[in-house]
Amino acid sequence: MGLPAGSRGILTSGGSLSSFSAIVTARHERLGEEFADGSLYFSDQTHYCVTKSARLAGFPRASLRELPTDARFRLVPRALDAAVREDRARGRRPFLVVANVGTTNTGAIDPLPEIRKVAREHGLWVHADAAYGGFFRLAPGGEVLLRGIEECDSITLDPHKGLFLPYGLGALLVRDGAALVRAHGGSASYVQDVAEDGALGFADLSPELSRDFRGLRLWLPLMLHGLAAFREQLAEKLALARWFYEELQADPSFEVLDEPQLSIVAFRLRAPEAEAERLGPELQRRVNARRRVFLSSTRIRGRYALRVCVLSFRTHEDRVRDAAQALKEEARALLA
Ligand SMILES: Cc1ncc(COP(=O)(O)O)c(C=O)c1O
Repeated sequence: MGLPAGSRGILTSGGSLSSFSAIVTARHERLGEEFADGSLYFSDQTHYCVTKSARLAGFPRASLRELPTDARFRLVPRALDAAVREDRARGRRPFLVVANVGTTNTGAIDPLPEIRKVAREHGLWVHADAAYGGFFRLAPGGEVLLRGIEECDSITLDPHKGLFLPYGLGALLVRDGAALVRAHGGSASYVQDVAEDGALGFADLSPELSRDFRGLRLWLPLMLHGLAAFREQLAEKLALARWFYEELQADPSFEVLDEPQLSIVAFRLRAPEAEAERLGPELQRRVNARRRVFLSSTRIRGRYALRVCVLSFRTHEDRVRDAAQALKEEARALLA
């Protein structure tokens, strides 16, 4: 991810626990022992594990500041700046902004360099939730697409999403590795024998002591297939989402909510509001009943939307064509 020497990482059960450790670390570094007056910022598209983690990390609801997004569902840096100034004037202590690198709804990427600029001015920790999107940095052009991720203080990554691995494999990277230790370190005399050589253990960096052997599950596929295989797959998923977007965009039955920023396309039936709301779930049911693809649904700005997320190593052009064809056929039948 382009972090400098001195950064460290931990493997977790997934993005939720990575977010939790990131927030605890940022809290520890920026606020100290008394933190109820701290404020953290995130967009209205942020995954709910962030607010859940903040609550688990001890923050009251008044600490959570949800910010609006632009037409492409990205956090607006100006709104961040204004919220921080307003909170400061009220005597609060702004300390953290969570930036999305691939939102769950549409795959939106928040403007990291601009967020970083605001954050630097106000001394905020920048955490990137790149659980879904982070590994696209490995695809050709990925470093440009995810520009600014290398400047973040911490990054959530989910190998069980972007590296196609089985569930139960998340990661957290922290720019200043020592911060992880300051937030999570501890000791007891009955563990003195396992750290004889003075090496840091996972328990010094994470909430866990006994744990799964997650490293093997990450290392083995990389060793067996090589990184090039993953880069190729990620590039294919981006191209498939782009192809799917163009297909739906050209069909009058659909309203596509945004051009894909990564490998997610969210869309709805093009129909009067009430009808689109009523027929959307039926469209999903009919397409999924064909048992070729599994579409999920969501609500975006209060409106029902379907979602295609291309993120399986088994998903290739034939399957995405199946999805587009099934959608077009069922949509035509429903709107007729
Ligand atoms: C953007 C984003 N962040 C965080 C999470 C939470 O990750 P996990 O389910 O691995 O806890 C998800 C998906 O579940 C996600 O899409």
